[in-house]
Amino acid sequence: MIRVLGALVLLAGGAAAQPVGDAADTVFLASGARVGEVTATSAVVWTRTTAEPQRRSGQEISGRPVVTLASGVDVSALEGAVPGAAGEVRVTVRQRGDDGDARVFDWLQTAADRDFTRQVLLDGLAADTPYVVTVEARPAAPEAEATAPETVTFRTAPGPDQRRPIRFAAMTCQYYGRRDRPDGFGIYPSMAAGRPDFYLSIGDNVYYDNESPRATSVELARYHWQRMFTLPAIASFLRSVPGYWLKDDHDLLRNDSWPGIDPGISAPMTFEEGQAVFVEQTPAPERPYRTVRWGKGLQLWLVEGRDFRSPNDMPDGPGKTIWGTEQWRWLRDSLLASDADWKVLVSPTPIVGPDRSNKADNHANAAFSHEGDAIREWFRANLDDSLLVIVGDRHWQYHSVHPETGLQEFSVGPASDAHAGGTPGEDPAYHRFHRVGGGFLSVDVDWVGERPRIVLRHRGVSGRVVYEVERLGS
Ligand SMILES: [Fe+2]
Repeated sequence: MIRVLGALVLLAGGAAAQPVGDAADTVFLASGARVGEVTATSAVVWTRTTAEPQRRSGQEISGRPVVTLASGVDVSALEGAVPGAAGEVRVTVRQRGDDGDARVFDWLQTAADRDFTRQVLLDGLAADTPYVVTVEARPAAPEAEATAPETVTFRTAPGPDQRRPIRFAAMTCQYYGRRDRPDGFGIYPSMAAGRPDFYLSIGDNVYYDNESPRATSVELARYHWQRMFTLPAIASFLRSVPGYWLKDDHDLLRNDSWPGIDPGISAPMTFEEGQAVFVEQTPAPERPYRTVRWGKGLQLWLVEGRDFRSPNDMPDGPGKTIWGTEQWRWLRDSLLASDADWKVLVSPTPIVGPDRSNKADNHANAAFSHEGDAIREWFRANLDDSLLVIVGDRHWQYHSVHPETGLQEFSVGPASDAHAGGTPGEDPAYHRFHRVGGGFLSVDVDWVGERPRIVLRHRGVSGRVVYEVERLGS
């Protein structure tokens, strides 16, 4: 293995390997288009202009031992790379089945400084309404021809008083070298089969640090997103299912990271560069922590676990935090203000656990027990059992109930069976369900007569139900 220092910084931004100097004759949308951050009135469209119509093929470099690429390696030639090209994109949105009333946005430029990505906020949408989004691309030249468009569909959330059944899927931890099919992961067609309203990608969307090639530069970090999200099984899924993307350590910088951490094996890439790449490569919310309402039945809280964190190795105590003061205040205020039937807190790391005793990264670990105890106790004292927690990060599936506070937590498990493991084992004091395997969680919210109902199902990668729990509210 050849270790590289410094030189790759020169490639950051992709300028060295990508045709940005001369205006391209044609640009493409090989990175596709996707929709995220759907609310009752808005959504964000993400897309990217590319130099070629398809991802690069070639010899796959993935998994372990982790390879650090030599200086001068042409990242744009790697398997799964999708070289970008400057151009323009135009987004059109219309209600499905409504041929007349399209909203056509202006042509918008793409450029190397944002990896040729572009995001467009769709606002003023109608609640509980299906939409079709079309994205066209063309070179940044007058009268240039537009390429074949990408089309994405989604449905807006119902308004807060609307009683419409909701279904969503939640997944985490997808490791490229541990795919269970060459074109992606079996969970994607399995999730799509349920026709969810949306899905949650709860962190570790890619593995910068412990999978080859290690992301030691912005260019290599971007490459990880290119090769993962152009896998046909994922790209196809995203054409009809909108998402919410959360970040964790491996799709930010390196294992268990926090602001100010020494990048170590990931140098010269920095924590701040990792933050910027994440909001560039996913449909970005206005603020990293947010809440979204899906009708009378459901409200989600998507929390941010890296940006505001204290160093993991700081002594535990009142000043040590994962969420930070402002986020925690926002979370309490918005939870107390909610009249949703079910309140689902989505966290990239566990709050209940249990986790391995040698970990020092989450609210289930002793290293953050001061804040963890305060959070769990506040939930017990202020909320009823309409609150549920869904978490990513851990590579095994579980439903656990905190022995002292009764807080309910569902770990969705890794994206493939090959990526499962690491559990401290089944603990009867916590676990109602425990399984070392890949898959996802599907959730249904509806009503039985006047009573609100939520059904949570752990599923294997094929979609087979391995555990199911139904709760009725009052
Ligand atoms: Fe993970």
